[in-house]
Amino acid sequence: MLKLDHVHVHYGRVQVLRGVSLEIPDGSVVALLGANGAGKSTMLKAISGILRPSRGTIIFDGEDISRLDSSAIVRRGVIHCPEGRQVFPGLTVRENLLLGSYVRGNPRVQFDRVIDIFEALGPRLGQLAGTLSGGEQQMLAIGRALMGEPRLLLLDEPSLGLAPLIVEYIFKVISKFHEHDISVLLVEQNATLALEFADWAYALSHGQIRFSQAADELRDSDLVRSAYLG
Ligand SMILES: Nc1ncnc2c1ncn2[C@@H]1O[C@H](COP(=O)(O)OP(=O)(O)OP(=O)(O)O)[C@@H](O)[C@H]1O
Ligand SMILES: [Mg+2]
Repeated sequence: MLKLDHVHVHYGRVQVLRGVSLEIPDGSVVALLGANGAGKSTMLKAISGILRPSRGTIIFDGEDISRLDSSAIVRRGVIHCPEGRQVFPGLTVRENLLLGSYVRGNPRVQFDRVIDIFEALGPRLGQLAGTLSGGEQQMLAIGRALMGEPRLLLLDEPSLGLAPLIVEYIFKVISKFHEHDISVLLVEQNATLALEFADWAYALSHGQIRFSQAADELRDSDLVRSAYLG
């Protein structure tokens, strides 16, 4: 479904991604692991068109999307749920959700679906998003992304700063996305958690893919334990 081929990304003269190649099969959850500063968020931004690769190609469904602008990429169903949630704090929960289908997605259909998935948001539709708890904000951020009817969801650190029970809840939701034909590229620092839910994992370090393997094999691997799980 998605294929990165030797993608390079620079911020000005500083190179952050150094020839990254990666594949996401249709209907799968692929985890992207790596330490702080490895380039994980940069990779998601390159896929969603926020950053433009300086070299290499990004193919989605057979089409080169690496030179398209971000709204054209959203229109194709590639939707980015950014690190740090980034809900619009001064807008209500309802307004935040509706903005998620501004470019793509049927707002009525998706709205009911999202409230069905994240029941906690239902009673809070009129509440300002900035006053939600961290867990509720993360649900809203993912819910807003779902409003655009993603075919590929780019999820950047959904567990960050959240209590274990909420994290478990959010990951159970993510694990059902394949039933709706949503593939997921999941960036996650919590490797144990990511590998529990992913089908396949890539490890990024200093802007390069160091290894990639089936998630269940990696769970038992000494290499990943020593490098990523401590
Ligand atoms: N706008 C920017 N301008 C210059 N350098 C940047 C910019 N954004 C990120 N970088 C640098 O690119 C590198 C990779 O950053 P990135 O945010 O992709 O890392 P990450 O793997 O997502 O890390 P984290 O786990 O901390 O979120 C870092 O060294 C960072 O300082
Ligand atoms: Mg990041």
